[in-house]
Amino acid sequence: MKRISIKFLKNGPIKLVNESDTLAKESIQFEDNLFDLKKCTFLCRCGRSKKQPFCEGSHADAKFDSKCQIAKNEQIQKIKTNHTDVFNNNENLKIHISKGSAIMVNNEVDIKINNLPKNIKSFSLCRCGNSKNKPFCDTTHNRTKGRYYTF
Ligand code: FES
Repeated sequence: MKRISIKFLKNGPIKLVNESDTLAKESIQFEDNLFDLKKCTFLCRCGRSKKQPFCEGSHADAKFDSKCQIAKNEQIQKIKTNHTDVFNNNENLKIHISKGSAIMVNNEVDIKINNLPKNIKSFSLCRCGNSKNKPFCDTTHNRTKGRYYTF
């Protein structure tokens, strides 16, 4: 079984780590292009990268703040801001990214966040940088389209 982790780097990109020995073929779809998931892939989540959907370091100039703004509960806040959050996925992980939209993670996946196991069908991750519920999308991108970001 392939093991793919999704880590959220503090004030930085999403880091996808393929921990298996084989390439995860065509796991990332951006518009009509398919990308293999290599050992390590960084996806932009500040919305400023000029090499979408990948990170090229613009988050530093943009002073991107990855903190979740709405989680009041301390435990949830920890989950949403911890830069080592890990999602363990089945081998059919597919990530779909469309212009002007969130990162969609599909297929039923087993998720482990700070050792709390969960199973969910799909979820969407913010890539505009403006969600108040980071790392998840809260649809803010619909209201801020074109204002702050380039994706
Ligand atoms: S992509 Fe940022 S709120 Fe949806």
